[in-house]
Amino acid sequence: MWMMKLVVFTMLVALGAAAAKVATKAATEKKVVKNASVAKKLSDKATTLADRSANLAFNLYQTMAKDKNIENILISPVVVASSLGLVSLAGKSNTASQAKAVLSADKLSDDHVHVGLAELLDHVSNSTARNVTWKIGNRLYGPSSINFADDFVKDSKKHYNYEHSKINFRDKRSALKSINEWASQTTDGKLPEVTKDVEKTDGALIVNAMFFKPHWDEKFHEQMVDNRGFMVTRSFTVGVPMMHRTGLYGYYDDEGEKLQIVEMPLAHKLSSMIFIMPHQVESLDRVEKLLTREHVKTWLGKLTVRAVAISLPKVILEVSHDLQKHLADLGLTEAVDKNKADLSRISGKKDLYLANVFHAAALEWDTPGNPFDGDLYSREELRNPKLFYVDHPFIFLIKDSKTDSILFIGRLVKPKGDKMRDEL
Ligand SMILES: *[C@@H]1O[C@H](CO)[C@@H](O)[C@H](O)[C@H]1NC(C)=O
Ligand SMILES: *[C@@H]1O[C@H](CO)[C@@H](O)[C@H](O)[C@H]1NC(C)=O
Ligand SMILES: *[C@@H]1O[C@H](CO)[C@@H](O)[C@H](O)[C@H]1NC(C)=O
Repeated sequence: MWMMKLVVFTMLVALGAAAAKVATKAATEKKVVKNASVAKKLSDKATTLADRSANLAFNLYQTMAKDKNIENILISPVVVASSLGLVSLAGKSNTASQAKAVLSADKLSDDHVHVGLAELLDHVSNSTARNVTWKIGNRLYGPSSINFADDFVKDSKKHYNYEHSKINFRDKRSALKSINEWASQTTDGKLPEVTKDVEKTDGALIVNAMFFKPHWDEKFHEQMVDNRGFMVTRSFTVGVPMMHRTGLYGYYDDEGEKLQIVEMPLAHKLSSMIFIMPHQVESLDRVEKLLTREHVKTWLGKLTVRAVAISLPKVILEVSHDLQKHLADLGLTEAVDKNKADLSRISGKKDLYLANVFHAAALEWDTPGNPFDGDLYSREELRNPKLFYVDHPFIFLIKDSKTDSILFIGRLVKPKGDKMRDEL
């Protein structure tokens, strides 16, 4: 009998060892491809466009940062890239080639641009695969006199998921109302307003309306939220709810440049949110001068995984930009010029120009995410965490882990909230 037991026991040990071996192997493989079920290889076309759109992210951010009228920034470079793709689809000659040039895609064929951008956006915005909420509505509005060409409607829907609509600005109030209502519907009410006014009503309008809500790889405890102050400047503080958690995160303290960087993975680890925050309250000009693609890459290379106690405002950042003049600054000068634009693929006639490019998004920082192993808190590694207390203006990026494309880039300078009483 004991012999039997021994045999069974030995078999179990052997089985266990084999299982452990498989598990280790799976773990090592998981490191290489972060999630095999979505590791479908991107085509070369999409990979090139991912790279070009990441350059656009930094170029566009820098142009906007120079605009003194802008406080908070929130842009989705892959969506702006799609809008440029749309302009190149709508345009002819110089109008079309400038749109490609802003994307540094002037040497690529039209097909490469359209197919690559479509695949990239489908890939990075797949909510099911990524377990993040990202609603994107894209619309091209034309004056009521326009007849959209069938081919253009078909192709822009196929590649860029654009809807088309006519709008009558003679009744400006109801025109605005219909734009805002559509944006609200598209985003499940999270983005109630794209704009209060439209100045130039004699051309075409591009509108992107988005809602993004990250699902953290490790959630914040919903009860660990309290009211704190966010220092917009040294003398102006806004009250915000703040959520807190300690965990293991990629962290780097750049003592020379006086700033901290933290990378927080989102669910399924297919993307992550990166925070760049100066040590002290300051206007972001200084940090923005450092914000290049190369520099961010260098910083990310220096991150080490360690215990970090993170306090993050639990707020919705809602921003609407008219990108028309910023895209013109980057070289899209013809499409936006009434006398030069050739957007004749839209209707067959050379009678339209791009009067507005509204790019509006709501980004919600909230507690939900994957559950995590509670035992973590008794572990040695979590002792003496670095403090990452997000209570003053910062820059952030949401980056796709595989393609390095930038899903969002922005800055939070002033959250919504009431001014707090000056402390005595
Ligand atoms: C999104 O991802 C899911 C699961 O990985 C997949 O089944 C689906 O086909 C994807 N959708 C698109 C549009 O790529
Ligand atoms: C990989 O992604 C799928 C959905 O596409 C998800 O169900 C699964 O849990 C993910 N695996 C990991 C390890 O995150
Ligand atoms: C993410 O996953 C959680 C847990 O499986 C689920 O409750 C949540 O609805 C998912 N969110 C999205 C946007 O897929």
